[in-house]
Amino acid sequence: MTEQQQHVENVRLSAAKITAACGRMAPKIAIVLGSGLGGLAGRLQEAVTLSYGELPGFPVLTVAGHAGKFHVGKLDGVPVIVLNGRKHFYETSDAYPLKTMIRAVRAAGVEILFLSNAAGSLRPAMKVSELMLISDHINFLGLNPLTGPNDDTFGPRFFPVAEAWDPALRAKMKSVAQQQGIALHEGVYVAFRGPSFETPAEIRMVQGWGADAVGMSSVPDCLLARHCGLKVVGVSCLTNMGAGLSDEILSHAHTLENAAKGAAAFERLVSAAVKVL
Ligand code: HPA
Repeated sequence: MTEQQQHVENVRLSAAKITAACGRMAPKIAIVLGSGLGGLAGRLQEAVTLSYGELPGFPVLTVAGHAGKFHVGKLDGVPVIVLNGRKHFYETSDAYPLKTMIRAVRAAGVEILFLSNAAGSLRPAMKVSELMLISDHINFLGLNPLTGPNDDTFGPRFFPVAEAWDPALRAKMKSVAQQQGIALHEGVYVAFRGPSFETPAEIRMVQGWGADAVGMSSVPDCLLARHCGLKVVGVSCLTNMGAGLSDEILSHAHTLENAAKGAAAFERLVSAAVKVL
């Protein structure tokens, strides 16, 4: 079997296991949890949990704060899938694990991918532990997960991403945030490859490009999701100011600590949002 054939088979096998785990819940939304935001999984009722290891082709995770667990359950009565943990391009340039994860939930009937991440703020008005709705992105990974032969059964070779972060879903997110009294900024997310954080010069560069938040994820997920026809919405939890914008020393522990501070608002926002998206 070629790598591509193995991938197609993994998507089929994982989708079947996911469909079985979902039973009669038939969730339309899958939520990808970013660093330090895993607490949302604990809010699910009637939850069924699988470890990624049980799902063929799913990522094998190595980073603290990323659990590698698939959950299906009800969030305030709404059936959802929660994907706790994902593979980053600083771990591997192999996009297959991420492809399998996103295409398998699509094949299992999901229509909306809700992405979340921890990110650095590039704007003084967006403070640490606040949330930012992603309006657009800049792919500065030096990689696109769709590089290589295209499989037309998943999606087309070329496709537009001008409105990748769904405008109608964003409008709904903003009204939910307002109703809930949660401060929700909106802006452009730029993805660096990492694993080093950025230099102050790089931060100044991407500020000039029009970026508002910086991180190491979510852009590949968004591209893969749009390719296979999923709608995408996303929220960044701002865990720090970008390098050079404050005197804090950036670290993963720091990211997790400040994500925990933003997690309560994040969980409240997501729980209210899934009812209207
Ligand atoms: N840069 C890149 N990734 C991040 C950051 C950052 O400042 N904060 C959290 N993830």
